[in-house]
Amino acid sequence: MKLHLFIAAFVALAISARVEAGPTNSPASTPRYETRAEHDPNGIGTFYMGREIAHVMGHQAADWLERPEREREERPDLLIPALKLKPGDAVADIGAGTGYYTRRLAKPIGTNGVVFAVEIQSEMLDLLTNKLAGEKIFNVKPVLGTITDPKLPQAAVDLILMVDVYHEFDHPFEMVTAMCQSLKPGGRMVFVEFRGEDPNVPIKLVHKMTEAQVRKEMSIHPLEWVETISTLPQQHVIVFRKKP
Ligand SMILES: C[S@@+](CC[C@H](N)C(=O)[O-])C[C@H]1O[C@@H](n2cnc3c(N)ncnc32)[C@H](O)[C@@H]1O
Repeated sequence: MKLHLFIAAFVALAISARVEAGPTNSPASTPRYETRAEHDPNGIGTFYMGREIAHVMGHQAADWLERPEREREERPDLLIPALKLKPGDAVADIGAGTGYYTRRLAKPIGTNGVVFAVEIQSEMLDLLTNKLAGEKIFNVKPVLGTITDPKLPQAAVDLILMVDVYHEFDHPFEMVTAMCQSLKPGGRMVFVEFRGEDPNVPIKLVHKMTEAQVRKEMSIHPLEWVETISTLPQQHVIVFRKKP
């Protein structure tokens, strides 16, 4: 009897010790980012959920963002209506660059709406601000963010747009966490990325993303997939909504 009691006490102790330690392979014990020595020269050697993060496009190449061929290659005339924006909406253009899309977002939301144009390069924000002044667009707020924080107001944004940006986030987990906090309940987060599934899209591998990879990376955030729009020539438009 005494032996039975001793064995029961020992088993209970062992179980409680295991619960306190937690499962050894839990997500919390797995490093979020991995550094690999062998990697694509266009990437930074840091991997997130199996994907290599790309180098940030420097402001020295800003002219490339304003090239006239973008109208034909990216069809912003199709993308902007597909976002179904309403007058008065608050929109965030993350990684706004020179404001190529910011300026186009500013129109459908009208004077009562606002576009937060977020950038980590102040040189890009200077170029963006000059172009806004030239086109007399007054409903845009330029925001200097950091690599982990877009510095947006909490629960205030109807739609977040990232065109050709997400794959170069240095800290994608932290950025998406903060962006989710800035969305209103039911607000949308939209990724426009060159199609990684399509070898005919003439963009370097780490600068493209597959739909499956975007959905995998968003599956750990409070977001639900809504639709993927495939009407653009080379990019897909992957739309998520913040879960209630
Ligand atoms: C390829 S450009 C695209 C610019 C713009 N979306 C367009 O399509 O014209 C990517 C931009 O994202 C910016 N970027 C990268 N990481 C960022 C971050 N964590 N927060 C804000 N902007 C970021 C870069 O500085 C760069 O200007």
